[in-house]
Amino acid sequence: MELNERILLVLDKNERVDTLKLALEFNEDHQKVVGAVKSLEALEMVTSEAVKSTRWELTEEGQLVADKGSHEAVLYRSVPDTGIPQAELMKTVPNAKVGFSKAMSSGWILIDKSGGAPLVKKKVDSITDTVQDHLNEIKKGIDNLADNIRNDYKKRKLLQEVTIKSFLLSKGPQFATTIKKLETDLTSEMLLTGSWKNLDFKPYNFDALGQPPECGHLHPLLKVRSEFREIFLEMGFTEMPTNMYVESSFWNFDALFQPQQHPARDAHDTFFISNPAVTTKFPMDYLERVKQVHSKGGYGSQGYRYDWKLEEAQKNLLRTHTTAVSARMLYQLAQQKQFTPQKYFSIDKVFRNETLDATHLAEFHQVEGVVAARGLSLADLIGTLDAFFKRLGFHRLQFKPAYNPYTEPSMEIFAYHTGLGKWIEIGNSGVFRPEMLLPMGLPEDVRVIAWGLSLERPTMIKYGLNNIRDLVGPRVDLQMVQTNPICRLDK
Ligand code: PHE
Repeated sequence: MELNERILLVLDKNERVDTLKLALEFNEDHQKVVGAVKSLEALEMVTSEAVKSTRWELTEEGQLVADKGSHEAVLYRSVPDTGIPQAELMKTVPNAKVGFSKAMSSGWILIDKSGGAPLVKKKVDSITDTVQDHLNEIKKGIDNLADNIRNDYKKRKLLQEVTIKSFLLSKGPQFATTIKKLETDLTSEMLLTGSWKNLDFKPYNFDALGQPPECGHLHPLLKVRSEFREIFLEMGFTEMPTNMYVESSFWNFDALFQPQQHPARDAHDTFFISNPAVTTKFPMDYLERVKQVHSKGGYGSQGYRYDWKLEEAQKNLLRTHTTAVSARMLYQLAQQKQFTPQKYFSIDKVFRNETLDATHLAEFHQVEGVVAARGLSLADLIGTLDAFFKRLGFHRLQFKPAYNPYTEPSMEIFAYHTGLGKWIEIGNSGVFRPEMLLPMGLPEDVRVIAWGLSLERPTMIKYGLNNIRDLVGPRVDLQMVQTNPICRLDK
């Protein structure tokens, strides 16, 4: 018979039953009985109440005594009828010290000093080893010991008290002595024949832990990226195509009114591409206007007044900022017949020839926002930054005048980080210069405000990392990628 049915039979004859008693009665492991009870409970056939009880159990030493006899009995049995020198007895018998004193006080042995060296002899012909008998009873679950005796065994470290949890069972609302097999599936056959009406179905176990689904996991940078993307989309921004890691110097620098002698355009700062080393296809009329504004000025600007070279603009490189993408997008926007205001964003990889350290790698991600509309001002930029960073959880911003070749004015963005308790630099921003926008063909009253920040910095702050190598590269802990929660910025 199944264990759970045997439990039901016992419960049929008794109002309440303890699982420990059942385990003893069935000679089964208590945990197994508890398992069977849990399944009966799910069927509402029994109800249970957790109870704690204490029980005396044999210690390891007590176990030995139960098997081999008490120390005093073992010692008594080692004494030959003719006696044995005390020193020899003490050497050969295990636990001789305790055994000797107990056997002496029980009057089982005596010491004969008549022949010089003390000789141990039996004093009685036979003994009853009550200690062994008692312990064997306890082992069987029978405990009729008087308190003082039990305490004595406890002192001798033969017994120990243990607390055990068990369950007190009573009949449940669905109690019966046999278990009906419950249906676990509703089949089309049951529906067709109508047999489902007379069947009992197993209830769902909504507490069961599901199998964790096998799936990929987003790297922390991607988790933060999705959150940023979400914020931009909520604010009505359109994502720019950022799939070109390789750019020409023209779009990365020249279009942004960054002069050709600018130190950022040096191989010390920028990775140039050797194959293919140059780009030759450009919108030539626009390129001509860019050349003009650099070398001679125009649109009310005096320009940089230097000899602008096509070869320099043709050089291919790994883009150093996503503003190269913004330049392409704004140029495209300028080609529309009718200007329409736009909000663009991008989040993607950029490359710089940096000295690597704990917070810098040669490649990282930039987050960039661009807004183009007529008559925008610095106030619009500040307002937009406020709205954007508020959604990232930064409620206090400060701005510091800065310099970019392509924006005027330019502002570094600082935010008060409540977690870190200090002001941190989180981005760079500005209003694009007319020298950049007018050669593209944008109407004169169109202003473009923009800002950029790295994706790595907020990610490291968010996930409490202080070395970039724990985030990117061969040292990344894959477990961390799996277990890190999805990114929710406290807005
Ligand atoms: N391109 C700038 C950088 O690389 C960020 C920026 C973007 C600044 C847009 C102003 C406007 O740091």
